[in-house]
Amino acid sequence: MGAQQVAERFAELYGAEPQGVWAAPGRVNLIGEHTDYNDGFVMPFALPHRTLAAVSRRDDGVLRLHSADIGGPAVELRLDDLAPRSDGAWTAYPAGVVWALREAGHAVTGADVHLSSTVPTGAGLSSSAALEVVTALALDDLYGLGLPRWKQARLCQRAENVYVGAPTGIMDQTASACCEAGHALFLDTRDLSQQQIPFDLAAAGLRLLVVDTRVQHAHSGGEYGKRRAGCEKGAALLGVDALRDVPYDGLDAALARLGGEEEVVRLVRHVVTENERVERTVALLRADDPRAIGPVLTEGHASLRDDFRISCPELDLVVDTALSAGALGARMTGGGFGGSAIVLAEATDVGTLTKTLEEAFAAAGRTLPRVFEAVPSAGAGRLL
Ligand code: GLA
Repeated sequence: MGAQQVAERFAELYGAEPQGVWAAPGRVNLIGEHTDYNDGFVMPFALPHRTLAAVSRRDDGVLRLHSADIGGPAVELRLDDLAPRSDGAWTAYPAGVVWALREAGHAVTGADVHLSSTVPTGAGLSSSAALEVVTALALDDLYGLGLPRWKQARLCQRAENVYVGAPTGIMDQTASACCEAGHALFLDTRDLSQQQIPFDLAAAGLRLLVVDTRVQHAHSGGEYGKRRAGCEKGAALLGVDALRDVPYDGLDAALARLGGEEEVVRLVRHVVTENERVERTVALLRADDPRAIGPVLTEGHASLRDDFRISCPELDLVVDTALSAGALGARMTGGGFGGSAIVLAEATDVGTLTKTLEEAFAAAGRTLPRVFEAVPSAGAGRLL
């Protein structure tokens, strides 16, 4: 749905034109998984799939939320009633952002919101971050808050961590808020410093496919939190602030110090080697050698599967099938336990690869995956 249509639907719903229309994209992460809550490196880029929001401000302490994708009447909430963990529905994401803004001292007094999204949900492509970021951006504009994008991302993360109750890192919100078309975002999650790395695979005759396994993932479920707690335990045992502080060339010594803590050893090894893989990927892209990142992606998958243990049979099936069919590299992307994988391939191989993946899923008796090409797209912005 385009910006104009979203504005028209808003007018039908709420009886007046919106004061503006904003958009925020979903993301895929190229490399750097489960490093963001360890103060490490990540490298996401924005998808063309995005969430649009037509919004007007209100001054009576009421928030009305409507989603074209969910349907039904608008949900009406009183700002004074917003409280962490009080809402188990999709409305918790935009309401959480309003709550986080007010908690941070910003005088937001209400809004009418109509949303429409093309970001697949439950596919590990950050539909929730898109929903949060589009809300934050619209309110920042309408209330003249002047918050820098990184700060909007932080408030969105707080909404997700505290209001929704999912203990996620900062990657998804920063990606949605800060990515640029044609680039991947090399983000240091310790200080949020960013570098836009040119990422034009098409020019090199390559494609990056997203393969949505259609196995739904859920972050507020316990496994993500358990991994996070395990990483924090590792940092505490090693006497560092975060696993980011364990140097790659000191990894063996660090693991030896963890003694019999078998699970912590695996988690630490993943995080430390994954940070190194992000740095290697950045160096290869800077050296204009995009084909060479394929094996780095595949190494990353092995580490997530064997050390971090967050893959699932469908994600492994995508990776194994793609590699045997000639892909340059493949790995699961996002939080894990379902969702999507990415596959780096020669442009000329895409047709055969897609067919081979579909056949493999059919033979395994699984729902066919959704396969699409990921083109690095623009971050959040105002459309109307
Ligand atoms: C989810 C979280 C992110 C990040 C990834 C794993 O997408 O929202 O913060 O931790 O998982 O890299």
